[in-house]
Amino acid sequence: MEVKQLNFNRHSIQGTIKVPGDKSISHRAIMFGAISSGKTIVRNFLFGADCLSTISCFRKLGVNIIQEDNEIVIYGEGWSGLKEPASVLDVGNSGTTTRLMLGILAGRPFHSVVIGDDSIAKRPMNRVVLPLRQMGAKINGRENGNYTPIAIQGSPLTSITYELPVASAQVKSCLLLAGLQANGETTIIEPAATRDHTEKMIQHFGGEISIRNNQISVQGNQQLTGTVVDVPGDISSAAFFMVAAAIMGNSEVKLENVGLNPTRTGIIDVLIKMGADISIEMNKDASYEPVGTITVRTSILKGIEISGDLIPRLIDELPIIALLATQAEGTTIIKNAEELKVKETNRIDAVARELSQLGANIVPTEDGMIITGKTTLHGGTVSSLGDHRIGMMLGVASLICKEKVILEDYEAVEVSYPNFFEDLQALLK
Ligand code: S3P
Repeated sequence: MEVKQLNFNRHSIQGTIKVPGDKSISHRAIMFGAISSGKTIVRNFLFGADCLSTISCFRKLGVNIIQEDNEIVIYGEGWSGLKEPASVLDVGNSGTTTRLMLGILAGRPFHSVVIGDDSIAKRPMNRVVLPLRQMGAKINGRENGNYTPIAIQGSPLTSITYELPVASAQVKSCLLLAGLQANGETTIIEPAATRDHTEKMIQHFGGEISIRNNQISVQGNQQLTGTVVDVPGDISSAAFFMVAAAIMGNSEVKLENVGLNPTRTGIIDVLIKMGADISIEMNKDASYEPVGTITVRTSILKGIEISGDLIPRLIDELPIIALLATQAEGTTIIKNAEELKVKETNRIDAVARELSQLGANIVPTEDGMIITGKTTLHGGTVSSLGDHRIGMMLGVASLICKEKVILEDYEAVEVSYPNFFEDLQALLK
């Protein structure tokens, strides 16, 4: 375990930055390139550990994927280009790789085994395994298939209509990928809108999909065609700089080329509702995903309630939103966010424990947390607990701490933002 002493000793954050490519879109670009026919070029791909796990799994599945300068090129040979892997498919820390890839493997006529790290081994897979079995997939694993290692024998799939018990883009995407290979029409019904990158990508690769309110349907036996994917900057990474600028004095950060898909912009809604000084400019020439520039300045913030349909639109930003709330006057209540318990760590416990360690007033609840501000944070020793977003949140917290912060396990940030600390340092004045 590596330890970092965070003693930035700076008072403001200023400048312009382009954050790395979107993690969700980078994963999907590799997977769609792999199942399509022809060449796919992925620009601004995120070279983070999670997305590299996706590349390594699809290489083991026989797909020719190469890196040319900063681009990834995939030579897809359609669904049948995927072949039985000779060794286990290791997803590392990546839940998105695991769940989406299971949807692809379910319909391929071969056997494979999926493993991951200790965090993956604790994350529930029943949410995809049960509906995939309904479609005809043969899946075994620990605790009746709920946990990795998971063994899967692909087989012909039949379509289903499935109401998602949790608002999860990973589950929706897994079932759409299985549905593209099934016989008949598969329909997924969402309890609340979740990120729709898979839906957009099906269209971008020439497939057909119908979306009516919260019902998404795909016909089976679809063949997709390779294309060019321009990955926008990840709003989930941008969020750390947005919050840093809002809570530090004399600050202004401009974030360029950020993905502004409305299913992901809950963090912007929260900043506006808290009273932050924020402005957005949409790029006019953006391709199939909306992109723009976000500018955030030092802000006077007030506590708010964050709940309901807003939660899936900012689920990954809740750790950094909790830090934001410690600097807002009054109480912030986060509820309906029980999904946080099954992320890379239990993020309700992790956020409450690590931020309390620095002096924040946070009470964990069954489905969220209650944060009372505004609090002065002191220093101390904290840990990412192996979770990239907890590590980056604590890095930002250290900027407003009165004393030095020791961050254990800081290298966890490599999962989604390998140069996070260097980029942060470059903006500090
Ligand atoms: C993701 C969906 C979300 C999110 C994860 C990425 C995706 O997970 O937390 O970081 O790319 O589809 P859930 O679908 O489990 O909510």
